[in-house]
Amino acid sequence: MFVTATAMLPAVGSLCISRSPRGGPRFTMAVRSDVNVSVAPILTKLQKECATPLPVLRNVADAMTADMRAGLVVDGGGELKMILSYVDALPTGNERGLFYALDLGGTNFRVLRVQLGGQEERVQATEFEQVSIPQELMCGTSEELFDFIATGLAKFAEKEAGKFHLPQGRQREIGFTFSFPVKQTSIDSGVLIKWTKGFSVSGTAGKDVVACLNEAMERQGLDMRVSALVNDTVGTLAGARYWDEDVMVAVILGTGTNACYVEQMDAIPKLQGNKSPSGRTIINTEWGAFSKGLPLTEFDRDMDAASINPGEQIYEKTISGMYLGEIVRRVLLKMAEEGALFGNSVPEKLSMPFVLRTPHICAMQQDYSEDLQAVGSTLYDVAGVESSLKARKVVIEVCDTIVKRGGRLAGAGIVSILQKIDEDSNGAIFGKRTVVAMDGGLYEHYTQYRRYVHEAVTELLGTEISKNVVIEHTKDGSGIGAALLASANSKFDHDY
Ligand code: BGC
Repeated sequence: MFVTATAMLPAVGSLCISRSPRGGPRFTMAVRSDVNVSVAPILTKLQKECATPLPVLRNVADAMTADMRAGLVVDGGGELKMILSYVDALPTGNERGLFYALDLGGTNFRVLRVQLGGQEERVQATEFEQVSIPQELMCGTSEELFDFIATGLAKFAEKEAGKFHLPQGRQREIGFTFSFPVKQTSIDSGVLIKWTKGFSVSGTAGKDVVACLNEAMERQGLDMRVSALVNDTVGTLAGARYWDEDVMVAVILGTGTNACYVEQMDAIPKLQGNKSPSGRTIINTEWGAFSKGLPLTEFDRDMDAASINPGEQIYEKTISGMYLGEIVRRVLLKMAEEGALFGNSVPEKLSMPFVLRTPHICAMQQDYSEDLQAVGSTLYDVAGVESSLKARKVVIEVCDTIVKRGGRLAGAGIVSILQKIDEDSNGAIFGKRTVVAMDGGLYEHYTQYRRYVHEAVTELLGTEISKNVVIEHTKDGSGIGAALLASANSKFDHDY
């Protein structure tokens, strides 16, 4: 499947003129009129700079573990925020009653209704509705976004038409999954630190997002209360832990990325004596903000500089679904401009930021046909590019380089958390089955990416230890998890 840079070198070159982006016409050696020899050095340099051999992975994993420790000492001590979730009791299976969950992710918004039936019946029923978040709301006002959420919830609740009855005086309770960095002030309140994943909604940063939702619910005349505000990683961990006691870590590899884990309260100096009876809590790492020791290229730096949050979320920009396609596009654009990858003209659409998305590069990498026909049609449909077979092979090679780096660095992140837990528990974790609950479309759909994540974890931990580490895909677990946490933190008795 992979072609090497040297395979593209022509036996006999010919002379042609290609247009330089920064000046007039330029003379370069080309193979026929499509793939130009100058693509090879760009690809070789890219592969060199994106390489993640074991020492690089080890360095990233160790630096992240050290950063986690620094962030547990004091807020702002490290790049990872190490946010206290106020989730001190994990689901037990005894949860009962009717709960709602709202899930505002990076791409979709979901409303769920979950009926919990205690130990015997567990999750009796779930119903949900999902819509994609309109682009204009991602950069609109806070009121517009929260009105959209509350309207969705109101419509969902309306359809119940008296189907579910709560005892007099009892409000319907919600677990609110909010997938952005929030400094929690309690289990049911928290202030948005900043938007990520391309959101730039005005007027929310610095505000309590539960208060924003309450105001919007009031505008809708909805009488419901948020009992738990959770990050999507925390919801995923709670949802997975409900079924499996060995779950210690939850990771999201989707539009954005993040991880949380179960921490001993004694290991959190910044808690300053605020301990819960369980002695444990969930820490939301917000690892997307990490940047130390990452192998970055000019394409990453340019993408970051052009982003709405330059200098922030560097790990997220290197490994998550929102950005992988865009990095590839930037590489291909340079290859088109300076190496005539697609012939003598540069396809105009290829200059459009984010025109090539991660699902496109994923689809292209699943093309195992001899003539890479699906690659050709994706390039044509998305970027208006007519491509030769040689060019398609280069495109696949570029996708693989970026995806391999992303997947392997994500694996290093997982190991950083496992080794943090293991170091603090005197080797207790690597000696037994430990489950990492995983959610997110990137991990779910991108076969190669998933394989690279696993490979890196195995390389770093060694074959023996990695047999104990189970990465379990828990699709859409964060909604149920949020409902479970709403139940655990309910203001009312749920004895029905
Ligand atoms: C956010 C996290 C979230 C992650 C996955 C990141 O951009 O900062 O809070 O958990 O995306 O959705």
